Amino acid sequence: MKQVQKVAIVGTGVIGASWATFFLYKGYAVSAYDPAENAEENLKARVTVFLQDLFELDRVDAIDEQVQRLLTQLTFEKDIAKAVHDADFIQESGPERLELKQELYRQITESCPGDTIIASSSSGLKVSDIQEDAIHPERVLLGHPFNPPHLLPLVEIIGGKKTERSFIDDAYQFYASLGKKPILIHKEVKGHVANRLQSALWREAFYLVSEGVCSAEDVDIAIANGPGIRWAVFGPYLNMQLANQQGFKAAMHHLGGPMMEWWGDMHSYSLNDEEIEHLGQETQNFIDKLGDGYDLQGKRDEALIEILNLRKKLDLP
Ligand SMILES: NC(=O)c1ccc[n+]([C@@H]2O[C@H](COP(=O)([O-])OP(=O)(O)OC[C@H]3O[C@@H](n4cnc5c(N)ncnc54)[C@H](O)[C@@H]3O)[C@@H](O)[C@H]2O)c1
Repeated sequence: MKQVQKVAIVGTGVIGASWATFFLYKGYAVSAYDPAENAEENLKARVTVFLQDLFELDRVDAIDEQVQRLLTQLTFEKDIAKAVHDADFIQESGPERLELKQELYRQITESCPGDTIIASSSSGLKVSDIQEDAIHPERVLLGHPFNPPHLLPLVEIIGGKKTERSFIDDAYQFYASLGKKPILIHKEVKGHVANRLQSALWREAFYLVSEGVCSAEDVDIAIANGPGIRWAVFGPYLNMQLANQQGFKAAMHHLGGPMMEWWGDMHSYSLNDEEIEHLGQETQNFIDKLGDGYDLQGKRDEALIEILNLRKKLDLP
C-alpha cells in the first residue's frame, strides 16, 4: 500500500468526528467534509474532547498544548472534491442511506487519487450495494468501527463483489499498523458480525422486559455484573472453552442440550411504537434511580479507558 500521509473523513457526525480524532492522534493530516451547517465547529469541538480521551488513554500530560498542535493538522472543506483530491486513505461516515452513499461514492471516486482506498463505516449496508455507482468500485470496502472509533479497537473489513482483494489486504494491514483490531469477514451479511451478535442479545433483552420477566434495570445489572465482565476479557468461544475443565467440546456436550432447549423457547420479536415507549420508560426508571447528575457517558468513557489499558497490559486477544 502507498505511504499514507493524509486521511480524508467524509461525514463528520458521531462516527466521522471520532475517526478524525483517531487519525490525527496517529500523526496524519486530516481533511474533512460534511455538508451540514455548523459542521466545522461541531467537528472541532468533538475532536478537542475526543483527543483528550486518547491522551488520557496513553497517560500523557501537557494535554492542552498537544491538542492544539494536533488541531492544526485538521482542515475542513465545504467541497468534497477538495477534501478527497489528495487523500491517501478515505474513511466515509455519511448517513446510513443506500442511495445517498451510492451518490457519495460516485463523487468521491470522481475526485480522489487513483490508488486511494475508500473505507465505509456503514453499520449494516452491503459494500456490493454501496459501490454500485462508484467510478472505481475496486477500491471500495468496509471499515466498520465500533462507537467510539477513537477508543474501541475493532474494525470489520470486507469487500463487495467488485472490490479487488489486494485493497482489502492493504486496508487490513493499515488498520492493524495503527493498533486497531481488524477482523476479515468472508461473506456479506446484513449487519456484518459484531452488530448481529449485539442485536441477538438486544432482542432477548427487549423480549424479557416486554414479557414482564424482569425489569430493564435487572437486564442491565445481569449483563454488566455477569457475562459482560467476562466478555471484556474473552469472547464467547474462549469463555466456552473455560466453561469445562476439558474445554469447548466437553462444555458443549454438557451444556448444548439445555442451550438448544432455550433457543427453542426464544421467540421472534418485533418492536412497535407502544413497546418502544414502554422500554424507553423502563430505561428512564433505571436512570432516575441512579440519581441526578449521574454522568452516564462520562462513566462509560472513563471505564473504557481503564479497560482498554488493562487489556493492553494483559495482552488480551
Ligand atoms: N452511531 C454508531 O454507533 C455507528 C457505529 C458504527 C458505524 N456507524 C456508521 O457510521 C456512519 C455514520 O453514522 P453516525 O452515527 O456518525 O451518523 P451521524 O448522523 O452522526 O453523522 C452523519 C453525518 O453525515 C453528514 N452528511 C449528510 N449528508 C452527507 C453527504 N452527502 N456527504 C457527506 N456527509 C453527509 C451529516 O451532516 C452528519 O454529520 C453510518 O454509516 C453508520 O451506519 C455508526
